[in-house]
Amino acid sequence: MSETKGQTAIAHTNIALIKYWGKADPVLNLPTTSSLSLTLDEYYTKTRVEEADEDSLLINELPQDGKRVHQFLNILREEMGNFPPLRVISENKVPLSAGLASSASSFAALTAAVAKHNGWDLSLEELSRLARRGSGSATRSFFPDFAIWDKGHDDKSSYAHHLDVPDLPIALVVCRISGMVKKVSSSDGMQRAQTSPNYQAWVDESAKQLEDMKVALANADLDRVGQIAEKNALAMHDLNLTATKQRFTYFNQNTMKVLNEVKALRAKGYIAYATMDAGPNVKIITNREQAEAIKEYLAERFRKIQFDIATPGPGISYE
Ligand code: PMV
Repeated sequence: MSETKGQTAIAHTNIALIKYWGKADPVLNLPTTSSLSLTLDEYYTKTRVEEADEDSLLINELPQDGKRVHQFLNILREEMGNFPPLRVISENKVPLSAGLASSASSFAALTAAVAKHNGWDLSLEELSRLARRGSGSATRSFFPDFAIWDKGHDDKSSYAHHLDVPDLPIALVVCRISGMVKKVSSSDGMQRAQTSPNYQAWVDESAKQLEDMKVALANADLDRVGQIAEKNALAMHDLNLTATKQRFTYFNQNTMKVLNEVKALRAKGYIAYATMDAGPNVKIITNREQAEAIKEYLAERFRKIQFDIATPGPGISYE
């Protein structure tokens, strides 16, 4: 029996240290700020595309409503020229409860698999630009370690690139507080946050923080990296609370308790800084040496929360 013609790509998810939280153009997914991320080794999506009779999507062997994928494939068809319908078969190793964006690794892997399958000769930056239309955070999942998504000013100029920095012993303690599907999607959350009177100040501050972050990374100053990332993330979540239209929060009681412990850990002399995305889960920025001790410290205090340690991960790959 001949094997169905297809292509497989693997993309790892990423955590933003300087966040994307607002759209300048919701159709093109152009962001209001540039963002900076760390690709993670432990969580990834492996996606195979195969020619089929219609576009469809299977995640971890379960058939899904493939509307978002079908829409995205149509964007690729408009951009790159038509191609036949595809069956998309995804293996997602980003647990929902980790609160990490599986959309980042999913759309990066899908874009790469479709491009390779169709024989498009594209650079990582060009792939990143295309993936942006599926999910903004996917722009940064093509690159190993650190990446910057330059916000750009139009469809052509908004994509991510790799940021080369000296070796940094960074690690992340991922606190899996809740695996519930988020009650406010990231697109909806951004729209609401953009109604906060503090929104423009956050955008302005974010540009400065990005420059400070580049310096901190160049100096391999992990404390400074953590300080800037925590400030940027907490201010992002403050926008949700101060939105004038449908204000909301992703925090729950355990989020607050873990955030307090992060402060307590710092007072004890640990490198420990918090970052959070569109959900209640806290990720603690620390170094490789202290990650295990922090995990044990928290596991003793929070018996019901699961903790993972994540480290810098690779860029896109193919099978
Ligand atoms: O691209 P989306 O829709 O997955 O939005 C990502 C938003 C955050 O995860 C909160 C921040 C970021 O830059 O990844």
